[in-house]
Amino acid sequence: MINEKLEKAFNDQINAEFYSEYFYLSMYAYFDRMNLQGFKNWMNVQMQEEHAHAMGMFNYLNERGGKVTLQSIEQPKSDWSSPLEVFEDVLKHEQYVTSRINALMDVADEVKDRAAVSFLDWYLKEQVEEESNVGNVLKTLKLICNDKNCLYMLDKELATRTFVAPVIG
Ligand code: FEO
Repeated sequence: MINEKLEKAFNDQINAEFYSEYFYLSMYAYFDRMNLQGFKNWMNVQMQEEHAHAMGMFNYLNERGGKVTLQSIEQPKSDWSSPLEVFEDVLKHEQYVTSRINALMDVADEVKDRAAVSFLDWYLKEQVEEESNVGNVLKTLKLICNDKNCLYMLDKELATRTFVAPVIG
């Protein structure tokens, strides 16, 4: 069985991961409106990753004999002024998620659930990768992309991103 406080913290994080999926779906819709197919593809992969993150915790909670309690998903923002603004939001969001995973690990530590700490280690490493991926796109947008040609080239590059189902835990 899993500690009640930790179960609640896992359920809150499952909600945060589904919110992330929803947030990126909203960005997907924005890039669809702008007809930036590569950026749209990048968001599609991101959404699938967030879904996998949520389901990883969902399955883990079940496996540990906990109860999954789904919560309402907050309405995400739906308008941005530019792709740069979108990616600034993505980085801020991922940094926030990293702080949440750290806090969740603190709860696992507090209740001395070593198995959960070890499980969550995968998520921490994933956050390092996520922040780095987003940071790279943001750097290109900030430093190089001040014309439409660059945006077009970057769109072509982001079109090559593919989803690889993660092996969690
Ligand atoms: Fe599930 Fe992007 O963190």
